[in-house]
Amino acid sequence: MNGKEIERHLFIVFGATGDLMHRKLLPALYTLMTSGPLEGKSVILGVARGDEMNDEKFRAMAHKTLVDAGLLDDTGASAWCEKCIHYQPVDHGDAQDYTELKGRIEQIEHEHDIPGNRAFYMALPPQVFQPTVERLGEAGLNKSAGWTRIVVEKPFGRDLKSAQELNALLHRFYKEKQIFRIDHYLGKETTQNILFFRFANLLFEPLWNRDRIKSVQITVGEELGVESRAGYYEHAGALRDMIQNHLTQLMTLTAMEPPVAFDADAIRDEKVKVLRAVAPISPDDVVFGQYAAGQIDGETVPPYRKEHDVAPDSKTETFVALCLHVNNWRWQGVPFYLRTGKRLKRRMSQIVVDFHRPPITLFDSFEDFDDTINSNTLVMTIQPDEGFDLYFEVKSPGQPVKVKTKHFSFRYEHAFGKLAEAYQTLLLDVLQGDQTLFVRADEVETSWGIYTPIVENPPEPFLYSSGGWGPKEADRLVEVTGEEWIMT
Ligand code: NDP
Ligand code: BG6
Repeated sequence: MNGKEIERHLFIVFGATGDLMHRKLLPALYTLMTSGPLEGKSVILGVARGDEMNDEKFRAMAHKTLVDAGLLDDTGASAWCEKCIHYQPVDHGDAQDYTELKGRIEQIEHEHDIPGNRAFYMALPPQVFQPTVERLGEAGLNKSAGWTRIVVEKPFGRDLKSAQELNALLHRFYKEKQIFRIDHYLGKETTQNILFFRFANLLFEPLWNRDRIKSVQITVGEELGVESRAGYYEHAGALRDMIQNHLTQLMTLTAMEPPVAFDADAIRDEKVKVLRAVAPISPDDVVFGQYAAGQIDGETVPPYRKEHDVAPDSKTETFVALCLHVNNWRWQGVPFYLRTGKRLKRRMSQIVVDFHRPPITLFDSFEDFDDTINSNTLVMTIQPDEGFDLYFEVKSPGQPVKVKTKHFSFRYEHAFGKLAEAYQTLLLDVLQGDQTLFVRADEVETSWGIYTPIVENPPEPFLYSSGGWGPKEADRLVEVTGEEWIMT
């Protein structure tokens, strides 16, 4: 976000044969390197365990990925892969492999005239972060003649203790300003816009508090099931996979105070303050669910327990709904409902800010008037159909007197065209050394402090039909305060 000049560098991806590299990182890097700010600045070194893989095979794999992503046609592509992509096998526990890796990095830097600037990206299963960081540090790959930065994917830890241990290990080898804990929701334009919407407009800020706001609902719904990721997901579940990171980030940006400056530390200071104000979560305020069979887009889909590599008696939650209470001056008494699930009715991420109703209904004196006056709601749509909508009440013309709910709308695509992928934004920020959209050590630990009691003592998941909005018990969660889930 800081627009700083990007120096020539080597981009080293651990886990380069994996899903994230091929679905997100490689397409983002290719786009930035061929028609964006990384043109002529970046060289990629893929690292994975396979000895049978080599430069040639890895380039062919990358080529296929880019063709499948529609970024390259089938011809003449390899020139770019040939020039910009390399591969090095590394067994994650083997110190000798790291010495060889160091030699290979220096050789590539020499060939490409790169002045020792290195970004290491951990696109690895979470259980491999720790040994990889350790080996890198021990091999002296935590510093170089230029800058060295390390990007750590989510989930960062499994609970408070493991997050603290991973932070301590990272800090043994790296300074905090070298560490980029990634949460790709922070790279979405619509997520970044929460702060611009709030602090570049005077209209809403005076209303942004318990006097005017009744509740905030944050939903991230997915149509997809676990796909081929059961190996990871069975041990993670929706709380670790989505709530602790993506939804909590959306919550802190919605709830935080204005920062003293628009810089990484000032913003993250305010986010941490929100997390510190969150009250311990009552077990009554948490609902877990797991998808059963059902219909998605007219197709019958299997239950979670019949997915590939899922235990037939799995208790892993694929759905979570919970209520957070932020005990500070601004938000006392305003419930923040967070809800996410796989195999829901449709893909939809929204923040719904629900305002109080007027204190009295003035219109009851009109003959036959029996309309309900709805509360005003502001719906910030993170994806898809990115934008926001403000719902308000109007009188319909004529007699008898009737009130209808209408809305003002803003859609990104109409105003600006297609939005860039979150990973493009975040990779550029890493290379510019801008940590604003990355998670600080104290932030990730404070967040785990909120959720660790739940992961240590998880509730039984209720089954819900695929293609719906989760178990009915989640509806009861909001009904306690006389509300319902608001969806547009
Ligand atoms: P994968 O399961 O595809 O694993 C990535 C690579 O890591 C594999 O190709 C494999 O390469 C290597 N690997 C797997 N197991 C081990 C092991 N036990 N020891 C050493 N290396 C291993 O993961 P993803 O690419 O899906 O995810 C990577 C990270 O990114 C995770 O932390 C995930 O949470 C995060 N993430 C992923 C997203 C996605 O859409 N996939 C989205 C957001 C975050 P090889 O066997 O060749 O060494
Ligand atoms: C990832 C989770 O972090 O986010 C996945 O591991 C989830 O389970 C994905 O599907 C959702 O991301 P997006 O950008 O598609 O909403």
